[in-house]
This record gives sequence, structure tokens and C-alpha cells, in this order.
Amino acid sequence: MRDSSKSIASWTIILLILLQFVPLNRINPPPFQEIQFPESIKSSLKKACYDCHSYETQWRGVAYIAPASWIVSSTVSSGRTALNFSTSGDAQEITSGLMKIRIRNVVSKGVAHQQLYYLLTPERELTMTETRLLLQWLQ
Ligand code: HEC
Repeated sequence: MRDSSKSIASWTIILLILLQFVPLNRINPPPFQEIQFPESIKSSLKKACYDCHSYETQWRGVAYIAPASWIVSSTVSSGRTALNFSTSGDAQEITSGLMKIRIRNVVSKGVAHQQLYYLLTPERELTMTETRLLLQWLQ
């Protein structure tokens, strides 16, 4: 390796190490309220949606390594802002039906909603049966 590429490589490594110290909002506040869904509905939502739309996010692997962790953390933040199953305001909206329509749209789109996430964690993808039951419940 030439000297210049050697120093680029070592600076890159140093930079990657320093990036790990940038503080992130990677916390799970206690849920304010658990929404009362039928058990089958709740388990589907927990599986496929709670990582970004609740305070029960399971932070794993890449969530701890910068710069990937920045993307994860900001996706979860904007996901929670759009819809949070752990807060009472959203609970009311869901039962009042306004949010139901938006959730229905997302569920019928399938993995297109967050393609990269479902590609990296295929076990989180809803099965056809789970999707059908959810859509029925969201009618
Ligand atoms: C990997 C993170 C992630 C997962 C998993 C995820 N979402 Fe989202 N969701 C987001 C983000 C980020 C937004 C806000 C930006 C946007 O609209 O795409 C959002 C927005 C939404 C919105 C509001 C936007 C709209 O079009 O009205 C709804 C409703 C929603 N998600 C439902 C769901 C449901 C239901 C699931 C599970 C089947 C789910 N999401 C899974 C990240 C996620």
C-alpha cells in the first residue's frame, strides 16, 4: 500500500471509532398505555410494527454501530412521531378510526412500507394470514 492510502485507511478507522461516541436517543421510555387489541392483532403489530412505532423497540446489532445506528435511530424517531402504539393519544386515534385507515393503507402495501427493514429482518414480515386478519380487523 502507498503511504497516502495507508494514512487514509488509518484516518477512516479513527473516524469510525470516534463516531461510536456520538450520543444517540436510543432509549425506550416506559409505555404510557398499552392499547387493548385482540391478542392475534396485537401479536402481529408487535412483530411487524413495534420496532418503529412503540416504546418497545428491540434495538439489535446495527442499532449500536455508527453510522448505521444514526439511520436506525432517526427512522425510529420519525416512526414514533407518525404513530406510537405506546401513547394514549394515538390509542384514541386508533379506536376512533382515523388512524385505522392509515394503518390499513400501510398494511396493504406490505413490505414496501419499510423495504430495507423487512429485508434485513425477514422474520418480522407479516404472513399472508396475519395480513388478512389485520385488514379484516381494520375494516
Ligand atoms: C423500520 C421502521 C418501521 C417499521 C417496522 C414500520 N414503520 Fe410505519 N413508519 C415508519 C416511518 C419512519 C414513518 C414516517 C415516515 C413515512 O411515512 O414513511 C412511518 C409511518 C407510518 C404511518 C403513518 C404514515 C401514513 O402514511 O399515514 C403509519 C400508519 C404506519 N407507519 C404504520 C405502520 C404499520 C402498521 C407497521 C407494521 C405493519 C409499520 N408502520 C412498520 C417506520 C416504520
